[in-house]
Amino acid sequence: MGHWTLQDIRWEEFDPAKVDPELLKVVKAASLVERNARDYAAYLCSVFSDDPEVLRTTQQWAAEEVQHGMALGRWAQLADPSFDFEGAFQHFIAEIKLPLDATESVRGSRTGEWVARCVVEVGTSSMYSALAQAAEEPVLKQICQHIAADEFRHYKLFYTHLKRYHAREKLGVLRRLRVAFGRAAETEDDELAYAYYSANHRHDGPYHRRTYVERYARRTFCYYRYRHVERAFAMIFKAVGLRPHGWLNRAVASVVHRLVHWRVRRFTSRELKAAAA
Ligand SMILES: [Fe+2]
Ligand SMILES: [Fe+2]
Repeated sequence: MGHWTLQDIRWEEFDPAKVDPELLKVVKAASLVERNARDYAAYLCSVFSDDPEVLRTTQQWAAEEVQHGMALGRWAQLADPSFDFEGAFQHFIAEIKLPLDATESVRGSRTGEWVARCVVEVGTSSMYSALAQAAEEPVLKQICQHIAADEFRHYKLFYTHLKRYHAREKLGVLRRLRVAFGRAAETEDDELAYAYYSANHRHDGPYHRRTYVERYARRTFCYYRYRHVERAFAMIFKAVGLRPHGWLNRAVASVVHRLVHWRVRRFTSRELKAAAA
């Protein structure tokens, strides 16, 4: 059983006057990615088909991720009754395909697979923490708080799998770091940008990766505060075998926090210039 259901959300508190139209675009995109979690579960169950513990926990994990998508999608439809959640989702999954027939991890090792899964949960836990804090609309705030709590639990789950496999495979810090960097860099691949396009702009013209990577990124990362970045890097450091709380974490978090906001400003001015042209 999950820790909450859609019935636990106090939908009657929805306040249309407090909907932020920019945040709404991010929520629509996130609803599609979350709803597609069953494909990730199929991939994990295929790669770890001989591990009953992974098979047992992955279905529950996927059910929670799909619920995140359904909660966000329902909220987006309340905020914008013209939002075609089903149509956007079908458009998204027609394009974005996962390696469902893989029987070996695409990360090169099983430990590496869990490092990558931990990085994804770091990304989602920090994002929903930032959105929960930024949201003024009370129902969205509740939803993001529930989701953020799930995402931290998912990290813990994948970290326990990581420890089990690391005990056998002894993957070094550098190799784990390489996987973590590789997975973090994939946030600029098509999946998130295409979800943003499918949810918000699929009727406006053809997809262009760079454009939609930037549009999605600037609307999401503008809500990140230093503490979100610091906690995220503490979790990544722990997953790759570095000391999570120390000067290195604070130094990296400080640089990344500044870099994130520099990029938000850059992407914003580029989008505004393109709109004015
Ligand atoms: Fe999620
Ligand atoms: Fe998650």
